[in-house]
Amino acid sequence: MKKIQIFDTTLRDGEQTAGVSFNLQEKVQMAQQLEKLGVDVMEAGFPIASPGDFECVRTIAQTVKNSSVTGLARCVEADIQRAYDAVKVGVSPQIHTFLATSPIHREFKLKMSQAEVLASIEHHVRYAKQFVDMVQFSPEDATRTEPEFLVRAIQTAINAGARVINVPDTVGFTNPKEFGELFAYLRTEVQGFEDVIFSSHCHDDLGMSVANSLAAIENGASRIECTINGIGERAGNTALEEIAVALHIRKDHYQAETNIVLNQLKQTSDLVSRMSGMAVPRNKAIIGGNAYAHQSGIHQDGFLKNPSTYEIITPELVGVSKSSLVLGKLSGRHALFTRLEEIGFLIEPAEQSAIFSRFKQLADVKKEVSDEDLRAMMSGHLYQD
Ligand code: KIV
Ligand code: ZN
Repeated sequence: MKKIQIFDTTLRDGEQTAGVSFNLQEKVQMAQQLEKLGVDVMEAGFPIASPGDFECVRTIAQTVKNSSVTGLARCVEADIQRAYDAVKVGVSPQIHTFLATSPIHREFKLKMSQAEVLASIEHHVRYAKQFVDMVQFSPEDATRTEPEFLVRAIQTAINAGARVINVPDTVGFTNPKEFGELFAYLRTEVQGFEDVIFSSHCHDDLGMSVANSLAAIENGASRIECTINGIGERAGNTALEEIAVALHIRKDHYQAETNIVLNQLKQTSDLVSRMSGMAVPRNKAIIGGNAYAHQSGIHQDGFLKNPSTYEIITPELVGVSKSSLVLGKLSGRHALFTRLEEIGFLIEPAEQSAIFSRFKQLADVKKEVSDEDLRAMMSGHLYQD
């Protein structure tokens, strides 16, 4: 089994979600939960961004003992110095520096030539290297960079001492086939590919960030950058919970595992949802409210006979207490009489048809039939305690 490191950036890229901002206490509480979850590295913030964010990264580096703590820095000496000052108190500090490499960023944002970009990477990775050994370099907008130039940028960073190369799909532009091929290409073209950690960092603009990250793993990535609940800039980032559970459930395919303590996922998701003010959609994979809920009669009947007919993940695996059968107009007899029995009504076979048709009439006017609705429907019926 290949080990895949999980690099959580909820506290940095996740905080770039429009409308989201965390205070010190919130960040520390989430960092402690991320440590409990077993993330290998957490990016606690962007220390140069504000005195408050510097303090958050420093306090987290001081507090967290079982995950490495890193801070983001542009290829600017002051950023790198500030990131180092924030993380240096940690047990295994890292610095993450980045510079855009794509033509559109070079021309319009940076106004730098290819040669200037390479020179900056060389200088700033070396600069960071004097502070810590674990220097990570990200060529921002890698997926829209000319592949030959991307190789030169990455090679420059490795030659200057980078231990981790993170390949960002900054604008969520790539797809699994293309991103997998990009990693395969880097694997053949970059000298020393196997000596450094190759990582992927995907955004979800086209809804493919998780699939793209998995394609990266299949082609040599050994670290994935992600956030809890997939929060992040625009449409967000790769969702940590989806990557961790996909690798676990399909280990037959990926032959890879993470250090994530899967039964901490729901608790972590709830905490991040509360602190970010971002509700998790009910149909969200792994931790959404409906992820272990069954409504149609055919599914409910199959589930009651054997849960594996319609569930590939047990809710307990991710810290959800149990599956639920939601009663509505599509539900069948098996689910109705099971639920009635659970709440104390044992229905004789002779009565079942009449009760089932009363239930269907009720279900036609209600989106969901609750236990209270069932009790009202059964009023006058003998209650078995
Ligand atoms: O999306 C991105 O390119 C980033 C980098 C800073 C890694 O977040
Ligand atoms: Zn990002």
